[in-house]
Amino acid sequence: MKYGHFDDANREYVITRPDTPLPWINYLGCQSYFGIISATGGGYSYYRDARLRRLTRGRYNNVPFDFGGRYIYLRDDKSGEYWSPSWMPTRGKLDDYSCRHGMGYSVISSKHDGISASTRYFVPLDETLEIWQLTLTNERSTPVELSAFSSVEFCLWEALDDFTNFQRNFSTGQVEVDDEVIYHKTEYRERRNHFAWFACSEKLAGFDTQREAFLGPWRGWDEPAAVERGASSGSIAHGWSPIGSHHVRVALKPGESRQIIFVLGYHENPADAKFDPPNSQTINKKTVKPLIAKYRDKVQVDAAFERLRAHWDTLLGVYQTHTPDIHTDRMVNVWNAYQCMATFNMSRSASTFESGIGRGLGFRDSNQDLLGFVHMVPERARERILDLAATQLPTGGAYHQYQPLTKKGNNDIGGNFNDDPHWLIVGVGAYLKETGDWSILDEPVPFDNAPGSEQPLYEHLRRSFRYALERLGPHGLPLIGRADWNDCLNLNCFSNTPGESFQTTTSKDGKVAESVFIAGLFVLAAKELAAIAERRGAKDDAKTCLAEAERMDATVRKHGWDGEWFVRAYDDFGRKIGSKECEEGKIFIEPQGFCVLAGIGLEDGMAKKALESVKTHLATPHGIVLQQPAYSRYYIEYGEISTYPPGYKENAGIFCHNNPWVVIAETMVGNGDAAHDYYSRINPSAREAISDVHRCEPYVYAQMIAGRDAPTHGEAKNSWLTGTAAWNYYAITQWILGIRPEYEGLRIAPVLPAQWPGFSAMRKFRGVTYRIAVSRKGPGNKVSLKVDGKPIDGAVVAPPKDGKNEVAVEAVLS
Ligand code: BGC
Ligand code: NOJ
Repeated sequence: MKYGHFDDANREYVITRPDTPLPWINYLGCQSYFGIISATGGGYSYYRDARLRRLTRGRYNNVPFDFGGRYIYLRDDKSGEYWSPSWMPTRGKLDDYSCRHGMGYSVISSKHDGISASTRYFVPLDETLEIWQLTLTNERSTPVELSAFSSVEFCLWEALDDFTNFQRNFSTGQVEVDDEVIYHKTEYRERRNHFAWFACSEKLAGFDTQREAFLGPWRGWDEPAAVERGASSGSIAHGWSPIGSHHVRVALKPGESRQIIFVLGYHENPADAKFDPPNSQTINKKTVKPLIAKYRDKVQVDAAFERLRAHWDTLLGVYQTHTPDIHTDRMVNVWNAYQCMATFNMSRSASTFESGIGRGLGFRDSNQDLLGFVHMVPERARERILDLAATQLPTGGAYHQYQPLTKKGNNDIGGNFNDDPHWLIVGVGAYLKETGDWSILDEPVPFDNAPGSEQPLYEHLRRSFRYALERLGPHGLPLIGRADWNDCLNLNCFSNTPGESFQTTTSKDGKVAESVFIAGLFVLAAKELAAIAERRGAKDDAKTCLAEAERMDATVRKHGWDGEWFVRAYDDFGRKIGSKECEEGKIFIEPQGFCVLAGIGLEDGMAKKALESVKTHLATPHGIVLQQPAYSRYYIEYGEISTYPPGYKENAGIFCHNNPWVVIAETMVGNGDAAHDYYSRINPSAREAISDVHRCEPYVYAQMIAGRDAPTHGEAKNSWLTGTAAWNYYAITQWILGIRPEYEGLRIAPVLPAQWPGFSAMRKFRGVTYRIAVSRKGPGNKVSLKVDGKPIDGAVVAPPKDGKNEVAVEAVLS
């Protein structure tokens, strides 16, 4: 069953009924002002940091009832009847409801009793504000008098404090209303120099800024007293809960349309020019008024929207493909790339499943995210890499995450995740291959943000590499530390206290438990660093890296091979995890995917065997589960992984992030059918038809789909903010379609399903547009290339020497 459909030409997903199984959201903003918006107008906004600079409130824990939003109410002033054109919060009867989620905007439209309302929500480029552009049309045969009410509930900036510290917050709220603009200025009188403003293009009939006055005592957002009686009260918030609500009256003749624009913005004043007059407590509005005037103007608003569209044309225009599979095309050309930009912007902070309060940008996650967006915004990838590296510790280790506003590392989710440092090498490798910008390696970058500690970025990579070597366990495999990629394999935790965090508790000295996954990652990263060092002229470094990679490869084959698949880890007692010897958790996906990715076992058949075992033991129609058999009870020596009921999350859920590792591994052993088959099993567009099972948005990946041990097998959770986005994008674009940036040029090495006659693609790479046509002449993966009509040796297309910026590539597979 479906709840909407793709509009491919417009790059939109059109939701056609508001009661989706879960809130189906979109993101507004792509630079510094961001918002979440659900198909029913729910969601909130923030400036840069979802926790520290929250503009409006959201209420969690109510899913699918998503609550707190950008709500508009309409009222027929003759009959007194009122409704929400976005369905929420009044949930009245609507005709023709639709929500079009597009690239950085959403349009929610509906009709009620002959009145149609369509609101376009977006954040203009280079601005810290959002626009709600409401068009009302009277489709009745008689004139109508309407009232439109806007509403937002302000957050008192620090979202966690806002949610918990009422003894203070009920007394601090402050607003100003000036020239019909509502200003939210809590704490502006003291240390903040920023405020929010909420303006409307039309002359107001009234306004409210105190929640209780607007809603009326003991009422909810579904029946605000002001809307019910058709008049705002002009309330000014003193403490309690400041809101913003405008009231506009609109008279429409039959067939007539009117547009009303609401604008919510964030603004900062210079610290020494906060007040006007200077010694008053009144906000200096001189700096913001021109902006307010600009966006009250419909022509300016339309122009801003066109600029946003053009921006997305440019971003998505870097890689476009046409294949025999609509789901592949849709994800590659539009939605997967779009999701990669969302994970770049949001990391794991704000979604239906992430409160925006708990988490900053993860070191591991952000480095992996680079794989999915570096080609679209290389200069921002560069900045991200340098920010991440600046939080690295002198030991080469990493804070697990950092706060985007301060750019400082934090230990909120523990430290000593021993895989973390290696992802920096992976991320930098991806950047170098995409851009060829070797200067980044010489950028001076501090450790732990400490001034004076700067070293070239290259030195950071060397320390990342050494980090594992300085932490080897009894079998010569890397010690796991707090955990590796699998945050829930907590082998040094041994927690028996309810509520204690698995992420921050350590009870062991950590000298025994080892990770085969990190060993695989180490081999991959060491080879990457060797390639980087080689090209930088650091021959000795290159040699060392390769020698250590080889040594680790041998160690994995000796101590990390279980006969038919790679072992997952050794626990604190030195016992295997992910082995036939185990009672449960005999085989895990991570080492099968990652060891093959690192090239381990490609020559001696281990790789193929490991992948066969994945197929036999882990593959399901909904994707590949993380391990089998699921843990049926709590194992103190394994930690959080065994806390999840079987089939969910890390305990044998289909953890979509690591499915593409197997996809890539299958391409590496030349198996295009299996690769694309696995790719399709979790492709959200391919799952659209079973939306009532999948339940999350059909246009973006979810972190997890319940595994076969779960009663809800096939049900997705944690959509949007997941490494799944980058890895699937990387797997399909660079390994199945096989258009892969390398240090020396663009490799064209597709590994396609046997039935595909070929495909075409357009890829912009280092300033050159490559038009690539792939056709199949035989069943295999052998590639012959012609560049501008001339055959070349090998599969790497070097940048054109003659300054050309368009190149035609013909690839024939046989
Ligand atoms: C989740 C992991 C997550 C970790 C750290 C765990 O509860 O299962 O997926 O990485 O928390 O936030
Ligand atoms: C989600 C985390 O964000 C990511 O870092 C981790 O690798 C996976 N969970 C697996 O535990």
